[in-house]
Amino acid sequence: MPNTFFITTAIDYTNGAPHIGHAYEKVLADAIARHQRLAGRDVFFLTGVDQHGQKVQQSAQKRGVEPAEFVAEITSLFVELWKKLDLSHDAWAATVENLHKSCVQGMLQRLWDEGQFYKSTQSGYYSVRQEQFLTEKERGPDGEFGPEWGEVVLIEEENYYFKLAEHRDWLLHLIDSRTQAGNPLVIPDFRVAELRNAVEKLTGDLCISRPKSRLTWGIELPFDPAFVTYVWFDALSNYISFAGYDAKPGADLSLFKSRWPALHVIGKDILIPPHGIYWMIMLRALGFTDAEMPTLLVHGWWNISGAKMSKSLGNSIDPEVLVARYGQAAVRYYLLSDISTGRDADFSIERLEQRYNAELANSLGNLLNRTLSMAKRYRSGILRRMDSPLAAFVQEKTNAYDAAMSSYQVQAAIEAAMEIVTRCNAYVEETAPWKLAKDPAQSDKLDEVLYTLSESLRIISILMSPIIPREAEAIRTQLNWQGEASLAAARWGALPEGHQLGEPVPLFPRIETQE
Ligand code: ME8
Ligand code: MG
Repeated sequence: MPNTFFITTAIDYTNGAPHIGHAYEKVLADAIARHQRLAGRDVFFLTGVDQHGQKVQQSAQKRGVEPAEFVAEITSLFVELWKKLDLSHDAWAATVENLHKSCVQGMLQRLWDEGQFYKSTQSGYYSVRQEQFLTEKERGPDGEFGPEWGEVVLIEEENYYFKLAEHRDWLLHLIDSRTQAGNPLVIPDFRVAELRNAVEKLTGDLCISRPKSRLTWGIELPFDPAFVTYVWFDALSNYISFAGYDAKPGADLSLFKSRWPALHVIGKDILIPPHGIYWMIMLRALGFTDAEMPTLLVHGWWNISGAKMSKSLGNSIDPEVLVARYGQAAVRYYLLSDISTGRDADFSIERLEQRYNAELANSLGNLLNRTLSMAKRYRSGILRRMDSPLAAFVQEKTNAYDAAMSSYQVQAAIEAAMEIVTRCNAYVEETAPWKLAKDPAQSDKLDEVLYTLSESLRIISILMSPIIPREAEAIRTQLNWQGEASLAAARWGALPEGHQLGEPVPLFPRIETQE
């Protein structure tokens, strides 16, 4: 059994600037990784960029720069954005790195040596302008290839193929046995059936090479320098190449095995065929056992007014602009709380503003500020350790939060944590500490209220730390609580008798909305 929770995200194409979909996926994985750390587990969180391939080569050509220069420039946009969003990854997968290239070449060589590949000639229609083979799907209603393809020629090309179809029955069996064992290969459940149907229809093999005459920006086949490998073979391998894997016989895999298998966080468009079919079969061909197969957590997409976000529609949302304008907490909070993992959602700037103002600025920000201000005014910020009528409620919500996070239902987890905030604000209204403060006979009751609110805020700050890490830490600083942020510490009663609270500082400035 590995002793590490290993989580990866899809690696993003460096063929344009990052968009809100990229940001969502990274922040989702980050929240899951941070929750696992809170739960006391070792975490290895890997994310990165997918830098090779035809599309990248073409974009570089259009710009008149070398592909290496082009990807370096785009990659820096991702790196900068991930810093601004406080991603806590432990390793960075950039597929132009030598470590990755030599690992992929080791995999290719081994599969070639073991007879998993064969060379074959295929003829087909090829668009010279788009530099790609066309299939029947690309024909228009008139049966012709449209003008967008430019000159279309019938060519013959030799390539290397990976024997995918041979593994079809094994993959069907894997899907079924994982479901039966209560540990489905794919989360959420409805995607399992989708994958299973696709695997049932699997007939062909996978072309894993591209002749250098049409693509040079890739990893060379170690057994035939006239070819580079197909970008998906290259990209998928990042999950193991950057985790210490080595396909060479006799390699020391102890570090790798202490991490593997991974939870792969991917979008719904890349389940079938790349992750659900190619990747599973690649791993099996390399000798990974059924117990060593990863799990795929498939998230949905953010749409814009119900429509797909796309470059050509010009409706894509630039996360860089959002973070500059609203701050990383507002962006993280919105992306994690306004979508249910696995489902699609509609991106709305109005909702981002409303939810931030209502839930962070008003509910949580006010609770913190009024608690610290009242404690300062009535008790010079010094707490007495009191029993609380809310202790059981807070424990129940903490458990609900943990269960939801453990099953990657981040939205439900945030709801559970925010219910504590709502309950505490109602408790302030019910108990009216400003009245209690005027009546010496109510002195114990006032101490109970102040302790309840401070202790609830301490626990809330732990629960919110995977979601809004900086602000969660700021809450603990204001509470002057230096204990560790862990789920074990999210138990009632850690603030000691005589605890001195810190100074209240406004934490979530309101967003001025444009009506
Ligand atoms: O697919 N909402 O890269 P990519 C949510 N390089 N997620 C979205 C989204 C949206 N509107 N649009 C895209 C690739 N994504 C490959 C992956 S993995 C070995 C190689 C998600 O830049 C998408 O589903 O096109 C994918 O998981 C990720 O962003 C990267 O997409
Ligand atoms: Mg894509």
